[in-house]
Amino acid sequence: MRSLFCGEVNESHVGQEVTLCGWVNRRRDLGAVIFVDLRDREGIVQVVFDPDLQEVLATANTLRNEFCVQIKGKVRARPESQVNKDMATGAIEVLGLELNILNKAAPLPLTLDNHQKNSEEQRLKYRYLDLRRPEMTERLRFRAKVTSQVRASLENQGFMDIETPILTAATPEGARDYLVPSRTQKGNFFALPQSPQLFKQLLMMSGMERYYQIVKCFRDEDLRADRQPEFTQIDIETSFMSAEQVMDVAEKMVHELFRSLLNVDLGTFPQMTYAEAMTRFGSDKPDLRNPLEIVDIADIVKDVEFKVLANPANDPKGRVSVIKAPGAAAQFSRKKIDDLTKYVGIYGAKGMPWLKVNDLAAGRDGLQSPILKFLSDDAVNELLSRTNAATGDILFFGADTYSIVTESLGALRLKLGEDLDLVSDEWKPLWVVDFPMFEEINGGMHALHHPFTAPSKLNAQELEANPVGALSNAYDMVLNGCELGGGSVRIHDADMQAAVFRILGISDEEAQEKFGFLLEALRYGTPPHAGLAFGLDRIVMLMTGATSIRDVMAFPKTTTAACPLTNAPGRANPAQLVELGVQAIPAEETEEASEETDAE
Ligand code: AMO
Ligand code: AMP
Repeated sequence: MRSLFCGEVNESHVGQEVTLCGWVNRRRDLGAVIFVDLRDREGIVQVVFDPDLQEVLATANTLRNEFCVQIKGKVRARPESQVNKDMATGAIEVLGLELNILNKAAPLPLTLDNHQKNSEEQRLKYRYLDLRRPEMTERLRFRAKVTSQVRASLENQGFMDIETPILTAATPEGARDYLVPSRTQKGNFFALPQSPQLFKQLLMMSGMERYYQIVKCFRDEDLRADRQPEFTQIDIETSFMSAEQVMDVAEKMVHELFRSLLNVDLGTFPQMTYAEAMTRFGSDKPDLRNPLEIVDIADIVKDVEFKVLANPANDPKGRVSVIKAPGAAAQFSRKKIDDLTKYVGIYGAKGMPWLKVNDLAAGRDGLQSPILKFLSDDAVNELLSRTNAATGDILFFGADTYSIVTESLGALRLKLGEDLDLVSDEWKPLWVVDFPMFEEINGGMHALHHPFTAPSKLNAQELEANPVGALSNAYDMVLNGCELGGGSVRIHDADMQAAVFRILGISDEEAQEKFGFLLEALRYGTPPHAGLAFGLDRIVMLMTGATSIRDVMAFPKTTTAACPLTNAPGRANPAQLVELGVQAIPAEETEEASEETDAE
């Protein structure tokens, strides 16, 4: 139906006849002539209908925005004065000779040129129209380039694309499962995979050596800008490779992506331990574009009278730290400081002492703080010198348990970085390594990554004897404060796997029931293996500068995990439920029951 795309018409076609298909982006009626900006996937071209062809002009007059049309016309150069340098096709225009309306369009329920006016709900309900916007088309095109480059890069490194099941058993990655009832085995359920973790490990046991898959994963968890219930991983697993070698493979893939698609050289990725990341940046995914750091001061304040500081300073599980906000004294009002105090409250901080350096040269008189009276001259001097504070700076204090201070100052660091416009415009990748194997939550042990992650340098007895301090052989790739991917060396020994299950409070019977196939497989010559998975949506989000992964997915879900376009999830047909042997409990009645059974 077409000879070329709208966006492809250029000066080399001047004098030629072309057939174009697309949508009316805009129609301008100048009385005698009508201009139509015709849009397709590849761009926009200006078509002119003039009075020499009255019949065609009359049809053009009936065009409205978003009509779908076919136009035959002749390409001509625009007069010098009408050349549009902002438009890829701005040097030419197409004189319309024939116009065929393929389909009319009713007025659209959302505006395409001033799209900020559309609510997110509207955009998702009419996603197929929202995707007509060139910005959205461009993101999907970019995403396609990313997957194609990823495939090329991994296949060049010897990886094989193998599909794994979507209807499967639960894979623990820390979220809730989406369940699918089985008709043939009533009362039983499949789980949609939270990741292909166990299958990719089994593929190593089969001797596939280097597996990859670009694969949908499903997690029923709280959604945010960088989390969707259904998302895509670039999933990788290897045999006989060390952690360093797997990290090299992954780094090479990411390097090639950025070089080929953005012409950016990411340089070598520094490695930082989890402990250092938490101590200095209050996060296991530090944004290194932000220069602010958390500075520990427990030793300075352990003898002060103010219990808010002294108690955690003397408690081994406590932490007392400050963040310096350079130049904030002149910018931050009392109200702003109160707002920041409320902000850290979200993370459990019960207050936030601060200290303003109005004039460093003036000693105590140059300082202002609700807690100045508690601090000796020595303490003040030490504080100012350790933080390298200057006139105009504000110090914000955190004093509480280690985790509250680390989380709240980590969040404050990001907020101050934005508010004070300190975040540089560059790419800052790193690897975070040496994660703890487990975290203690309400007295129970939880895997920080997943239960198949190998400890570093410990055998099963040593691990069981002292699980709290154990480090894992896991690694996360972080870029500009976003966790792009993560993985680990896996347990390839049945005794070690059984020990980890026990530490996690999974009884031998439960382990047999849920993961018996894995424990058995581990007995038949399992090779040492390691891998990782990237969040494809997150990579595309960062590379395109989008602020949410929803903007780089064709049909994402809302923040309540629904699809306004198809109205999913919807009620099941009662006959279907009977066939499946499933009964739906009315929403009111589930509340009480779920309070009792909710694991989290
Ligand atoms: P993990 O759970 O860290 O590891 O997931 C790997 C990467 O997937 C992305 N990701 C998500 N993206 C969008 N929405 C979500 N809800 C979401 N959850 C995760 C992140 C994350 O870094 N099986 C292991 C990997 C391994 O050990 O090989 C796993 O799934 O970018
Ligand atoms: P106050 O003595 O209540 O005037 O508090 C002095 C400063 O300490 C204020 O900046 C409070 O925000 C802060 N503060 C008070 N209680 C706590 C607490 N439990 N934890 C952290 N900061 C606190």
